[in-house]
Amino acid sequence: MSDRKKMTLPGLFKKVSDGQPLTMITCYDYPTAYFQEQAGIDIILVGDSLGMTILGFDGTLPVKMDDMIRHAQAVRRGSPNAWLIGDMPYMTYQPSVERAILNAGRFMAEASCDAIKLEGGAEMADRVAGIVRSGIPVMGHLGLTPQSASALGGFRVQGKGAAQAKKIIDDAKALEEAGAYSILLEMVPDRVCELITERAKDCFIIGLGSGPHAHGQVLIYHDMFGLYPKFKPRMAKVYGDAGKVILDGLKQYVKEVTERQFPQPENYFTMSDEEYSQLCASMRS
Ligand code: KIV
Repeated sequence: MSDRKKMTLPGLFKKVSDGQPLTMITCYDYPTAYFQEQAGIDIILVGDSLGMTILGFDGTLPVKMDDMIRHAQAVRRGSPNAWLIGDMPYMTYQPSVERAILNAGRFMAEASCDAIKLEGGAEMADRVAGIVRSGIPVMGHLGLTPQSASALGGFRVQGKGAAQAKKIIDDAKALEEAGAYSILLEMVPDRVCELITERAKDCFIIGLGSGPHAHGQVLIYHDMFGLYPKFKPRMAKVYGDAGKVILDGLKQYVKEVTERQFPQPENYFTMSDEEYSQLCASMRS
């Protein structure tokens, strides 16, 4: 596979204290995890974004715990060494601390994850503290939190106004005090991300569309490679148009089969004349 060392929490904090930015990407399947492992990605998130990117829903709310576990297991098989985070789906942690701990534990026991992520600020601090007390590292998620998109007025930048920005900063502090080792800041202004990153002491900040000041960056894999047909978020950078490569290949396949150009001899298996004669004889008798 790869000669990488297993990424650990001390390893992540060492990179941060050495001033090296952390790399994080979403992943949902074995072959992609294999490539991410080879590329040396520090942190892989099995995001509940799989509801959109893999299952084709319009949002993340229909995703179930069993969906997440199945995909996290596949990702772990492809990437034994990245720091692997399981994303807690909608209503698997909101109802109670106990439910949060039990579902977080499933990611660790059934999918060999290293940590979990959940959305929300001070109101989720007791869930974060409970999960951390159970020995499970927790990443928080603030700013645009897709599970609350309805309450937030849609998929839009959060914290542009001073009052809302102050609330996000206070929420980050509450999550850190509850024991979160990291916080993902999605779609907050760069200056707000900078303030939170400067104030973080026992916690590192990962940004998504939140500017260059965070300790690390995350992107959604499908946005990076043109694999999500419905839209391309403004903050995503496209590193290659795999979607076009795949579509062109599929069109070529349809053409070649239709025009009887596929398969060619190298694409199928033959039988010796002798065996074939015996077969025909046995069918006559
Ligand atoms: O589910 C997900 O992929 C996320 C992203 C915003 C990183 O949480």
